[in-house]
Amino acid sequence: MLPQLEELRSKALQELASIDDARELESWRVRYLGKKSKLTTILRSLATLPLEERRTVGARANELKTELENGLRQKEEALREAELAKGAKQETIDITLPGRPLPIGRLHPITQTLNEICEIFASMGFGIVEGPDVEWDYYNFEALNIPQEHPARDTMSTCWLEQQKSDKQAMLLRTHTTAVTARVIESMEPPIRVIEPGKVYRYEASDATHVPMFHQIDGVAVDKGITMADLKGTLYEFARRFFGEERKVRFRCDYFPFVEPGVEMAIECLVCNGRGCRVCGQSGWIEILGAGMTHPQVLERGGIDPEVYQSFAFGIGIERLPMLRYGIDDIRLFYSSDLRFLRQF
Ligand code: DAH
Repeated sequence: MLPQLEELRSKALQELASIDDARELESWRVRYLGKKSKLTTILRSLATLPLEERRTVGARANELKTELENGLRQKEEALREAELAKGAKQETIDITLPGRPLPIGRLHPITQTLNEICEIFASMGFGIVEGPDVEWDYYNFEALNIPQEHPARDTMSTCWLEQQKSDKQAMLLRTHTTAVTARVIESMEPPIRVIEPGKVYRYEASDATHVPMFHQIDGVAVDKGITMADLKGTLYEFARRFFGEERKVRFRCDYFPFVEPGVEMAIECLVCNGRGCRVCGQSGWIEILGAGMTHPQVLERGGIDPEVYQSFAFGIGIERLPMLRYGIDDIRLFYSSDLRFLRQF
């Protein structure tokens, strides 16, 4: 009987070793450990054997049963692990891949430009002041030496508000942020150094270079002994920081009723580098701001003695700047809410 058991053992273990799926394993179990298996039959028939043989065969048969049962359990375990590993391989997750980006908003290119300019002036010690978009005629015009019937009014087509009978003054949508300068001069004590970013409005049809609402940043400094050199130094520094060290800057005389003398500042054209092109009207220069020494009458009207204090002021058009920097040829793109355009910034 013992050799029979040994033969059974080696056959069973050999078969077990080559099994690699659960169904085969189950049929192996039935064959070698099931009720009708040879081993079970031998174990059942032990009682019929002579005592001596019963002892040796019984011990060996039980050993074999335990060995096969352990083998079965190990195989089950191995198959389960192999199954898991296979699943993991099929649905591999590559944890080194970057995550899917969440769509996040961004600042409008004009807001970005405003922020950038505000930062440059803030680092030079300028504070930031805002004024109302709906403004009195007084601050937009009269306080700035532009009385009724002054021709300068014609250069800024104005959106007027419907007038209430009780209004002593007409109201309008401010045509320039210089209106905030008038308020600052009236309400703040020198020394003053502020910039005034904001929206301005003109009664004009839209085209590639005009929109009825755009942005400006005005600035004003008031202190004892301020000269044109301070104005030029400040604006040179701004141009250097905003357009780069190499960009040439030019000042020329200009007229604005609220400054004397008045200047315009131009930079070398960013498109042709001064050679002359369509963008700069073949001149090689692009005007980016108006400026000057604040007119004594404007200071006086605001309660500041021009004999004691001097002042410079400037006003920068904003939309022009990113247009030049990025080669945008139509100002309306900023305000048409086309995400294909806006997402580029
Ligand atoms: N307000 C002027 C405009 O909109 C620009 C300007 C010129 C502002 C000279 C100033 C200045 O403060 O001093 O065209």
